[in-house]
Amino acid sequence: MTDQGKINREGARPASLFERADMTFGRDPRGVSPKMPSVPIDIPPVPQALRRPVAPQAAPVRSLPPEPGVRQAAPAPAPRAVAFRGPFAAIDREHLREGGLIVPEDPVTGLLEEFRIVKRELLADARAEDTPQARRILVCSPHPGEGKTYCATNLAIALAAERGLEVLLVDADVVKPSVNQRLGIEAEQGLMDALADPSILPESLVIRTDIEGLFVLPAGTASSRDAEYLASARTAEVLDRLTEGAPDRIVIFDTPPALAASPAAELAQHVGQALLVVRADDTSRAALEDAQQLLSACADIKLLLNAARYSPSGRRFGSYGRKGK
Ligand SMILES: Nc1ncnc2c1ncn2[C@@H]1O[C@H](COP(=O)(O)OP(=O)(O)OP(=O)(O)O)[C@@H](O)[C@H]1O
Ligand SMILES: [Mg+2]
Repeated sequence: MTDQGKINREGARPASLFERADMTFGRDPRGVSPKMPSVPIDIPPVPQALRRPVAPQAAPVRSLPPEPGVRQAAPAPAPRAVAFRGPFAAIDREHLREGGLIVPEDPVTGLLEEFRIVKRELLADARAEDTPQARRILVCSPHPGEGKTYCATNLAIALAAERGLEVLLVDADVVKPSVNQRLGIEAEQGLMDALADPSILPESLVIRTDIEGLFVLPAGTASSRDAEYLASARTAEVLDRLTEGAPDRIVIFDTPPALAASPAAELAQHVGQALLVVRADDTSRAALEDAQQLLSACADIKLLLNAARYSPSGRRFGSYGRKGK
């Protein structure tokens, strides 16, 4: 449990997770909303759709009647969401527990509370934007071992607990894939196979799990052309197919280190939000700035300060912040 929801002795609100991340990295927190939520215990379900309320309809524009004999083109049908229909995998809860991950059926922990706060922010922004891009979230960091996979997986599990939400966790770290291993599932094919072979329907590779609302697209088969495949037009095609017509679907990408490989920078062009995981004790400001630069195709980069302090009692995060707002 963090001190985030507590009030200090003077009655003033302590620095929020956003603000503490910003202060850690020398950012001015004044631009950030002073109203961070206190740690919630019972979260009301998110509305069925992430859509904004429908705006009042403008008065209908009168059009000329069609000329006799001229056929009117039918309006294009709205895209329908594809159903995920890959293999089914049961996730061993003990394996999650041993890996320090959130276990959906377990009592509320400090870790879950931290990720609930993070997911609220991400969902609020996805809802405000209401585009497939805003519902795609990249998780990355400058260097190896800073907690990208740990955060991406926990975030996906926390999000899947929202009623009516589908969460697709995509392993985009094809050189060192670890989502499958972290969740204890097995699969050969995944993202890279769908990118390399246009005849493969990506939804047929998405693993359905016994955690309600949680789906996984593994990294798939590595090849020497992975960077080219990710940079090709096929990436947009695959991602559109997985997200179009699905306002209740969030996609989380786990990526390799931004300063060591290109996938994070490539995928930044296709997402509406990026979570830049940094270690308070480890990540230098120069590395942080370089990573931000590489991800600049994404307009909304948020900082997630991971593992400020490790403790068996569950304190995992020091701060959570956002950039560019
Ligand atoms: N907040 C945390 N609390 C406890 N353990 C953590 C935390 N963050 C990361 N770890 C652990 O640190 C190790 C490295 O984390 P992880 O694999 O998520 O890093 P990564 O950034 O994905 O690394 P890579 O770049 O190699 O893919 C893992 O064993 C993970 O379980
Ligand atoms: Mg990783």
